[in-house]
Formats: sequence, structure tokens, C-alpha cells
Amino acid sequence: MKVDVLLGLQWGDEGKGKIVDVLAPRYQVVARFQGGPNAGHTLEFDGIKHVLHQIPSGIFRSDIQNIIGNGVVLDPIVFKKEIDNLAKYNLDLISNLFVSKKASLILPTHALLDAAYERSKGDSKIGSTLRGIGPTYQDKIARLGLRVGDILSPRFADKYKKLVDAHKVILDFYSFDYADLLPAAEENFFAAIEFMKQFTLVDSEYVVNDALTEGKTVLAEGAQGSLLDIDFGSYPFVTSSTTMTAGACTGLGIAPSQVGEVFGIFKAYCTRVGSGPFPTELLEETGEKMRQEGREFGATTGRPRRCGWLDLPALKYAIMINGVTQLIMMKVDVLTIFDSIKVCTDYRLPDGSLTNHLPYDLCDETVTPVYKEFAGWQQSLDGIHDFEAIPDELMAYVKFLEEELKLPITFISTGPDREALISRETSALLS
Ligand code: GDP
Ligand code: IMO
Ligand code: MG
Repeated sequence: MKVDVLLGLQWGDEGKGKIVDVLAPRYQVVARFQGGPNAGHTLEFDGIKHVLHQIPSGIFRSDIQNIIGNGVVLDPIVFKKEIDNLAKYNLDLISNLFVSKKASLILPTHALLDAAYERSKGDSKIGSTLRGIGPTYQDKIARLGLRVGDILSPRFADKYKKLVDAHKVILDFYSFDYADLLPAAEENFFAAIEFMKQFTLVDSEYVVNDALTEGKTVLAEGAQGSLLDIDFGSYPFVTSSTTMTAGACTGLGIAPSQVGEVFGIFKAYCTRVGSGPFPTELLEETGEKMRQEGREFGATTGRPRRCGWLDLPALKYAIMINGVTQLIMMKVDVLTIFDSIKVCTDYRLPDGSLTNHLPYDLCDETVTPVYKEFAGWQQSLDGIHDFEAIPDELMAYVKFLEEELKLPITFISTGPDREALISRETSALLS
């Protein structure tokens, strides 16, 4: 068996949580492979909206092993809160949720360091979620970090103190006052560590590989998006992990040859939270209309998301680095309000030439999007599940994208609910 990978092709918040929840019944294992509580994955069904940060989005489906993999940075306090919030749904979390001993632990001081670094950057701040993601990955790579498995060691408190003492030196350097904040946070942290001990902590690389050997189906759930990847995203305005398909290998301990389908998820337009370049951003009324219609406010921080038209050079780049095998287009219903819809097909460079490659540094290079315009459909997509029943204008939009991207769009999402979906798996693709 192979591991299928599902990930975002833009700047995050593409709708990964919804689609993992939809596809989960086909899988026996769902595993997160990177990121941490910077993620906010929304699932909606039976009139209830759930937001998951660290727990895989297969958790609401029965008989699925949900794994938090080694590539994840895990905040025990957020973990406890998420579990507490799920208590009312009577899910068998002890049997269905496994945490890798090799996942990195986010300490309270990591979040403080995140704030200190951001403050020191002034106007050029990343716009991080302030969840301590960057500093935790920094410690991991610097070989200083603590991992989930360490909580079982009798020397855990000593290891903790050693790292926190080092963090305090840095916080002092940045004149960041932690004395008032730290004691309460540490109390919560150690309570959450004790709470975590009731869960099954595993060598998840064995769990995943054994599952494959036994013929089980595995879905790897990405967080963030390809344009936030530490190597290939809009650096330095990125997150600190490998958000692309390759991250599923290092974040779960699977071989590249074991990767099967790669589901690439994109919105029918673009959004971004935080700072950094965004060539197709709409800064005027159209962007505001998109934000309101799409309810584009961060699932983790509540910040308004920046909105803009679909960017094909960026999308093609993301498809290339991920080896996407099928596409899933989200939030198509949001575009219903527009009488015309634009898609960026190329960038015009300052010398007047056209390119559809991403420049080395999108921050320094001024690119002007070149748009192709499509007629809008301006009719509700509610209740449509059959691809053949979509409005002609939407059909033209889909066909154009498939031709440009050279991949089938197998699902089209038309609302936040689990049921608001058009599946083309049985329709003729690329016809
Ligand atoms: P994720 O981080 O990729 O899982 O995405 P988020 O949950 O952060 O953001 C996606 C938002 O769009 C959530 O509020 C979803 O409920 C919502 N959503 C998902 N699919 C659709 C869709 O097709 N249409 C609309 N209108 N909303 C959607
Ligand atoms: P999901 O999984 C959207 C953005 C932050 C910031 C940058 C770095 O829900 O798609 P970090 O806290 O990671 O150091 O912040 O990355 N960011 C996200 N934007 N969705 C996310 O996750 C994000 N996770 C991080 O806004 O610009
Ligand atoms: Mg999100």
C-alpha cells in the first residue's frame, strides 16, 4: 500500500480539514506530518463547526487511527484544550489517537521567543501566529529541543530547566519581560504534560510502516500551504517546516517510493494571513467583498485574511514541487457574487517581459499580474453534486484550469459543510 498525501497549494487555509474529513472513511490511518498549533483546520457537519489545530482531521470518523507524526511541533497545553473540547462528542480518543515520541515539544518560552523575535523585526515582521512554531523548529534543528518521548524520562524536569534557562538568556537579550507571564504558563504546561501521559506515545514510523505492510490505507494530512514552505515558499515570510509532499516522508518516516496519490487543494481564489508578497492581492472593494463572502478570517488567530484572484504561476509551481496527481478546488461558491472572475496567467516583469515562473525573491521583484477574465455564473451552487449540472460559466472556468494545470480537478467544494461537494470521480475527467 501507499501513503496518499493531501496538502495545500497556496498560503494555507485552502480547506484541508474539510477534505480530510470527507476522504477519511476511505482510510484506516490519518496522520499529520508537520506544523503544529499554527494550523486551524475547520470541519463542518450536522450544523456544528469544529476547528482542529494539532489533532488530525480524521478524528470524527470511527475506526481510524489518527497519528501526530514526528515532524509535528506539539504544544501540550493546546493539545489538552483540544481534547477537552472534544470530550462532549464521546470519541474514543485513547484508542484512536497516537502521538509520536519524536514529535517536538513546544514550551511556553517558545511562544515568548516567537513574540520577542517578531517585536524585534518591527515593520518587517513575519506575522507569525505567535504559537512558538519557529523557535521550536529552531531548537529541533539546533539539536537542543525536547521531544514528546522525553516526558517519560525521570530527567524531564532537568532537561526542561536547561532549555528554559537558555531561552531566558535570549529573552533578556531582547528585553522581553517574561517574569509575569511564565509562572502561570509553566503550571499549565506541566499539568498538560501529565495529561498527555494517558495517551499512547508511539514510534509512529513503525505504526505507519506496519500499517502499510498490513495493507492498510494511510492519508497524510498537510498543514499550512506550499507557498509557506521553509525552502520553496515566499521566504522569509514562511513557516518553519516542510509543507510539501517531501515533508510527509521526513515527518512520518516513510520512503518517497511509498507516496501514492497527492491531492493538491486550492481555493478558486487566493488568501494569505500575515505578511509577505501576494502578487494578485485585491486591496480595494473587490477584496473586501471576497473576504466577507468567504468569511476569510483566520481559524487560529481570527485575523482578516488578505484576498486576491487565483494565481496560476504560483499554483503551477506548487503542483511541480509536490508532484500533485489530482486537484481539489475549494470555495467556488464564494465567486458566485462576482459578475466577472479573473485569473492571473503570467507575471509581467519590470522590463516588460512575461514569465510564468516565480521569481527568486517575490519581495524584491515587482511583478504585475496579467489576468484572463471569465464571465461569472451568478447563480447558487447549493445542492449541486453532479458535475454535469454546474453552470456553463463555471464549467468553462474548470476546463480552462484543467487545461492550464494539466491535472484533473476531482472535487469541487461549494460550501463549508461536509455535504457541499461535487465529486467528479465517476465523471469523465479532462474530456
Ligand atoms: P484549512 O486550514 O486548509 O483546513 O482551512 P481553514 O479551515 O483554515 O479555512 C477554510 C475555511 O473555509 C473554513 O472556515 C471552512 O469552513 C471554509 N470552507 C471550506 N470549504 C469551503 C467551501 O467550499 N465554501 C465555503 N464558502 N467555505 C468553505
Ligand atoms: P493552516 O494549516 C494560514 C502563516 C502565518 C505567518 C506565517 C508564519 O490552517 O493552513 P508561523 O506561526 O507558522 O511561524 O507563521 O505562516 N501561517 C498560516 N497561514 N494557515 C495556516 O495553517 C498557517 N500557519 C502559519 O500567518 O504568515
Ligand atoms: Mg487553516
